[in-house]
Amino acid sequence: MSFQLLGFEDERQLVSTFAKALNTKPVFALETRYRAGELTVRMPDIDSKEVVLVANIDEDPGSTLRVLFAAKALRHTGVKKITLLAPWIAYGRQDRVARPGEVPGGLIIADTLSRLFDKIITLDAHSPMFIKAFRKKLVNVCVAPDKQVQDLLGSIDLVVAADKGASQRAKVCAKALKLPLIILEKQRTNNGVQIQVTQKDGKQLVGKRPLIIDDISDTGGTLVTAASMLREHGALSVAALVSHVPDISLLHARVGGIVQVEALHDHMTQTVHSCAVTSLIRAL
Ligand code: R5P
Repeated sequence: MSFQLLGFEDERQLVSTFAKALNTKPVFALETRYRAGELTVRMPDIDSKEVVLVANIDEDPGSTLRVLFAAKALRHTGVKKITLLAPWIAYGRQDRVARPGEVPGGLIIADTLSRLFDKIITLDAHSPMFIKAFRKKLVNVCVAPDKQVQDLLGSIDLVVAADKGASQRAKVCAKALKLPLIILEKQRTNNGVQIQVTQKDGKQLVGKRPLIIDDISDTGGTLVTAASMLREHGALSVAALVSHVPDISLLHARVGGIVQVEALHDHMTQTVHSCAVTSLIRAL
């Protein structure tokens, strides 16, 4: 193997998953804090000109900062090619100025990462706007459920994109599963999420067991609203496959009984499903 695999100590589980799949031994950087909270990074010895840093960019701004510190430190020691393998890059939902004064945080993070890394690989980045902000450095991996995930989800006979934004990843799933696809219309209002099914799509739902596809489930609101809408149109049962969840056990507690949900990447336990690991590694 020509590259060295690097990660942070507190993401050992995540890094080890990729190291095992690549049959390599990773090295770890250590993040520490001064008493006042200032973040510091201590790098391990690196003995390769090519490094793959496995590290999520999560909601805590420190996770962005330490990845930037690590990239700069690697350049200083003469590393020629640095790839960031970040299954999760947070802030993608901040990909536009929706209201005057709003800062598109996701676009700023994308731009900053793309200046320091030669290549960035992620799982189901939120939107085309977010992907574009990486200035061609991002490889966005969309994954179809393998047999193991399908078994967890139960019978499925129709794929449903939770909204237009989920249509690319839903198309990948529908094609792989050889199932028809419908795309829901989602709007956020002051009263929460509103989801609509067209008359034509509604007819397709009668007696079906649809699988909802989305990039992230956060509060679970989108899944619950979509599932209720699908049931209202005659669906027998509803399953969902989301790429990212902050904590799958919390999500199961919120949506249990309404929708059978599985995640490719559970952030809390740092678990990435093997079909996603394989696809992400293929992008290296
Ligand atoms: C929105 O565009 C996203 O794709 C997700 O549908 C949304 O962020 C899910 O959030 P929640 O679970 O809070 O509805």
